[in-house]
Amino acid sequence: MRLEDTLGKILIVDFGSQFTQLIARKIRELGVYCEITSHKSIEKHKNFDKNIKGIVLSGGPLNVYENKKVKFNNNLLKLEIPVLGICFGHQIISKVMGGKVKSSKFREFGQAEVTEIKKSKLTKNFFSNKKNNVWMSHADQVTKLPKNFNIIAKSENSKMCIIENKRKKLFGIQFHPEVSHTNKGKIILRNFIFSICNLNRNWSSSDQKKKLINEVRSVVGNSKVICALSGGVDSSVVAKLLSNAIGKKLICIFVNTGLLRKGEEKQVVNTFKKRFKINLIYVNAENLFLSNLKNISDPEKKRKIIGNLFIKVFEKYAKKIKKVKFLAQGTLYPDLIESKSVTGSQTSKIKSHHNVGGLPKKMNLKLVEPLKYLFKDEVRKLGLELGLTKEIISRHPFPGPGLAIRIPGNISKQKIKILKEADNYFIKSLKDNNLYDKIWQAYAALLPVKTVGVMGDNRTYEYICLLRAITSEDGMTADFFQFNKTFMQSVSNQIINNIRGINRVVYDITSKPPSTIELE
Ligand code: XMP
Repeated sequence: MRLEDTLGKILIVDFGSQFTQLIARKIRELGVYCEITSHKSIEKHKNFDKNIKGIVLSGGPLNVYENKKVKFNNNLLKLEIPVLGICFGHQIISKVMGGKVKSSKFREFGQAEVTEIKKSKLTKNFFSNKKNNVWMSHADQVTKLPKNFNIIAKSENSKMCIIENKRKKLFGIQFHPEVSHTNKGKIILRNFIFSICNLNRNWSSSDQKKKLINEVRSVVGNSKVICALSGGVDSSVVAKLLSNAIGKKLICIFVNTGLLRKGEEKQVVNTFKKRFKINLIYVNAENLFLSNLKNISDPEKKRKIIGNLFIKVFEKYAKKIKKVKFLAQGTLYPDLIESKSVTGSQTSKIKSHHNVGGLPKKMNLKLVEPLKYLFKDEVRKLGLELGLTKEIISRHPFPGPGLAIRIPGNISKQKIKILKEADNYFIKSLKDNNLYDKIWQAYAALLPVKTVGVMGDNRTYEYICLLRAITSEDGMTADFFQFNKTFMQSVSNQIINNIRGINRVVYDITSKPPSTIELE
């Protein structure tokens, strides 16, 4: 029996909201096991798992008056367990229980103020002086209260913003308690889980570790799995997780593109091959990558060449391993969100991201993506739980195309050598000054411009080194980090005094947008 089959849990019914995973994440953060299921897969269900102690109905892009599109399973409201409907979930509860929902004259998107009308277990400690700021995203609203329901709170454009049927323990909220823009939103989820569903804490990162290991084992069986190990946080956690789950049936391939940070290849081999005894094939493809990138200055061309070459090299070595059925990837939940939009529209392409996405089809491999429902901070916790060091776990993100996109214009062995050194001085200084963990990502880049300098009474004519350090939540937006003068001066001196080839250091003070984090 699976561990999670023994636990009291919250069932989250997904109606296609972009925030469904956030609900799950918040519930897990509160230490309670939950599962997400698509509303379609339980359309006709009658018998539900006895361990379900509460249900959350998510938001979604549909509307409740188009019956054909939503076949809501009314049984969900008859199980005599608490149900919390959020946004669309609120509207569907209202409709099924006899209320009315209409397209609203005024749409509410973004911040809104809600006012408490009646006390409820759900909103205990949520309001201050009967008010709170919440985040709304809706075009429809409940216009007639279902029978036996009370209004708990209202907003300017939503008179029935929070409603409850106390006896049946049915609750509806028009706003989104799961997003960080809703002040104290987590309190609502906490009240629902602990005071209304009467669940106890039953979930932690060590439980998650066991769950994922069991899942990998049951999916993979006796087959072999290959994994492209880059040394970054995500692929490192995937490799360690799989190694714990299936041991020597995991074979990692690490391709040294020659575009890695200083000492990275040694560190990866030492950690994974020597320390963790993981099957690791080390491929030194430095010359191959550099020769293919010769005289290439266009950023997109560089990215394509590196991406394609990586797949070619990986494939060559992977094909030598017999009986491989699976490819493990460190896909995270944000990767899924970014690639999928609720409206189905394509976001415009800024950069061709480097991944091994083309491989599974080409090689007839199935994908194993054990982290695909996790957020970065959860992956980090899991990594620590698996025994990876804090140094690996707290590493700044590093792009697939590596240093190539930190050297605008043509790339050469000499430029890479110079850049590796500069980057190393910068990162080491950040660590020595306890700044590394305060920064989301930092790196040095080598600009393809030479300028004149003077050192020891002599003229120099050398490259410019650009330093970039940003704070961010998820890499989608970013702000530059404010260093003090002493720190900047010290880094600049170290770089210029120790590295031949750089005579000027500049700091990038743009945020994202309008710039991107990487230079190319
Ligand atoms: P940008 O430059 O798009 O970067 O603002 C956002 C984040 O993505 C990283 N990045 C990549 N990561 N493959 C990756 O795995 C890539 O091709 C790639 N390009 C950019 C970048 O370092 C930053 O963290």
